[in-house]
Amino acid sequence: MSALVIANWKMNGALSAVEVFAETWGSVVIPNDVQIVICPPYVYLSAVREAMPREVQLGAQDCAGHKAGAFTGEVAADMLVESGCAWVIVGHSERRQYHAETDELVAQKAQLAQEAGLCAVVCVGEQLGQREAGEHQQVVAAQLAGSLDGVDLKNLVVAYEPVWAIGTGHSASPQQAEDMHRWIKDCLMKHYGADAQQIPVIYGGSVKPETAAELFACETIDGALVGGASLEATSFAEIAQAGASGRN
Ligand code: 13P
Repeated sequence: MSALVIANWKMNGALSAVEVFAETWGSVVIPNDVQIVICPPYVYLSAVREAMPREVQLGAQDCAGHKAGAFTGEVAADMLVESGCAWVIVGHSERRQYHAETDELVAQKAQLAQEAGLCAVVCVGEQLGQREAGEHQQVVAAQLAGSLDGVDLKNLVVAYEPVWAIGTGHSASPQQAEDMHRWIKDCLMKHYGADAQQIPVIYGGSVKPETAAELFACETIDGALVGGASLEATSFAEIAQAGASGRN
């Protein structure tokens, strides 16, 4: 399985920043055996599509839980496909936290995304207090059960993003990440059966060029979902390069 490295720009950037990113990207060498996806804010999708080379795929950070209709401010999965997206992140902890998204809604979004032809990146992860209380496995198992209800195992990626590691500079240790990825893969096997082996499980939470290699070296880590370090082409490229060599 080639490593999957996804940039989640969150609500950052500007049109001028897309140009700078693309220009710098043009001078880096990315091995073929790594899959790269960039998820900019909706309004920059077309700019990223036009500025970046074809092998860099396009994704969105969210989609609506409805197919179409009177849902002001929402963007449907079908519209993302029309905009050139092949991927969409659903259930990011920031959506769960600031927009009160439930597992049920996340599952609905993932289903609609898959129906539209997108690959759904379903995010799960525990909060600090839950980890300190030793509840992280149970919390993540419950999120998976709810968020994957009715979701196909094809065109599915699971992202493990411990909330305490996001934007803090404190990544989970390779051991912590590897243990949780193993647990997640076990949960997926229970949910989908043996075919669940094909579902990539990627890690997110303060992934940096300095820490990427040791994370990618873990057998159960199939890629990374990168926030802050994906905003600059050079650091994102270094992570992608680590993704390629880490899988050899
Ligand atoms: P950081 O890499 O900034 O910690 O963000 C991780 C994340 O939330 C990616 O979706």
